[in-house]
Amino acid sequence: MKPLAHRTLADLARRHNAPVMYLQLGEVPAVVISSRDAAREVLKTHDTVFASRPMSLSMRATANEGLGIAFSPYGRRWRHLRKMCTVELLSAARVRSLRAVREDEAARLVAAVAAECRRGGAGARVNVSARVAAFVADSVLRAILGERFSRRDEFLQVLEEGLRSIKPGTSLGDMFPSSRLLRAISGTFSKDREFHRKIGELVNCAIDQHRDRRERSTNTTGGDGDKDLMGVLLRIEQEEGDDPDFQLDTGTLKAVILDLFGGGSETTGTTLLWSISELMRNPTVMQRAQEEVRHVLQGKERVDEDDLTSLKFLRLVIMETLRLHAPTPLLMPRECTERCNISGFDVPQGALVLVNAWWMGRDPTYWDQPEEFKPERFEQAPYSNMDFRGTDFEYIPFGAGRRMCPAIAFAEANMELALASLLYHFDWKLPSGGELDMEEEMGITVRRKRDLYLCPTIIHAPTKERERLGAAKKNEDEKWNRASELYRNFTGNSSISQEKCRNGEKFPHSKQALRLHASTPLLMPRECTERCNISGFDVPQGALLLVNAW
Ligand code: HEM
Repeated sequence: MKPLAHRTLADLARRHNAPVMYLQLGEVPAVVISSRDAAREVLKTHDTVFASRPMSLSMRATANEGLGIAFSPYGRRWRHLRKMCTVELLSAARVRSLRAVREDEAARLVAAVAAECRRGGAGARVNVSARVAAFVADSVLRAILGERFSRRDEFLQVLEEGLRSIKPGTSLGDMFPSSRLLRAISGTFSKDREFHRKIGELVNCAIDQHRDRRERSTNTTGGDGDKDLMGVLLRIEQEEGDDPDFQLDTGTLKAVILDLFGGGSETTGTTLLWSISELMRNPTVMQRAQEEVRHVLQGKERVDEDDLTSLKFLRLVIMETLRLHAPTPLLMPRECTERCNISGFDVPQGALVLVNAWWMGRDPTYWDQPEEFKPERFEQAPYSNMDFRGTDFEYIPFGAGRRMCPAIAFAEANMELALASLLYHFDWKLPSGGELDMEEEMGITVRRKRDLYLCPTIIHAPTKERERLGAAKKNEDEKWNRASELYRNFTGNSSISQEKCRNGEKFPHSKQALRLHASTPLLMPRECTERCNISGFDVPQGALLLVNAW
């Protein structure tokens, strides 16, 4: 199979007019679903038959043997973890409680871009991919840990390398699980295991960091309680210590944290970058989105989450991005647990089932001008009531049914806030004009192959930037006070004041500025009290003297 599996599978399905397609991937029987009706049957009508995940060798190596939520086989244990996820970790109330973290991280993102912009001067190029990845990682890590992770840079680097190299389920070793030779040749499992070892070690360190902080805060303030997701998990771990059916042991805890982080960061970051890329390719859409956000914010210092409810068009931009660029285009693999008839075809027990959500989002049977980026399509019939919450089966970037993504609210909050902030504070240009490259790369998600570089112009200086400027201004004021005190001592004129001298005009008070802009250019008039020779000229008694300092 070519690396871009979603495109190859869509071509095959189209060529053979095959909404349900059986493929033998090496030794693995696979069924690919490529139509709305077949997807409905798999994800809704026969939901329980397809609610399990297959456990390929590479998934075993990377996904803690399915100990977490995302790769756990369907059953009691998964139900328990899923409930914990929807009720405790990712509920609407919990997502709301993490608002301050998101807002702070969005402000940092904006400040970082602004600082790069100022450093680089006119035409500065910013690596938007790197900035967005850092924003998403910090935001998710802080939601989990309650603070910044001490080994954050290392964590990001390991994750970046891992996400680029791991392609679960598509390696030769996955397709021929019984062949040791192919496993050895493909070499992916050793990479997967190495990734798992490194990331596991970092997650252990994050758990220790959290435990340390929790102990310190219990000693000082009586504890942090449920302020972050790790706190919630550790509480559940304690409460469930005596439950014979379910133990949240350290292995499970680590796996759940990795699911949240892995699921949370890469998908959200990838979607944000596709959104920005599409906006750059569609200037009229960009203009409408920026006009909306700037109109709603009316010059406010920064975007906060209360503003998001009024940003209707921005939401449509994200919806349209998810239609064209579902970050996990084949959803996550399902397993058929008993023989089942789908749209007249028998799916054998044990088959790996892939649902091509990417193709359904572009299929001209369902979409008018499907390749065009037109967020406004969701304002009009027949798309105006459409949603990505798993009821419209031609549009399921988050999946559907019982294994559907449990974190839609969490993902939306991060994406909307970051995108609104970037559009509000900056205007954006391509560094070299011309066409923006949109090449895809398949990893855990389908992301941009090359980093996105853009040139921002600051339109609304961000808060952090303002604070920095505020601090600089204070510094300048102090310099001014010192300078004017020296002046007063020197001239003996006590009536001179900063306010009078500034005379409403704002200028920097450095030595150089004083040279060019002496604020009392003729100083203060003096009187000659007795006849006096100055440079060969007689100055008469009583004359008014002006010294042109300017
Ligand atoms: C744009 C953002 C996201 C997209 C498009 C997305 C998409 C998906 C998809 C397609 C699935 C598989 C659904 C299925 O099999 O039917 C999934 C599952 C999952 N996602 Fe997301 N996701 C996103 C964000 C997140 C975030 C932010 C988190 C956590 C903080 C998360 C955690 C999970 C978990 C734990 C599962 C496994 C659920 C299960 O197997 O029961 N996702 N996601």
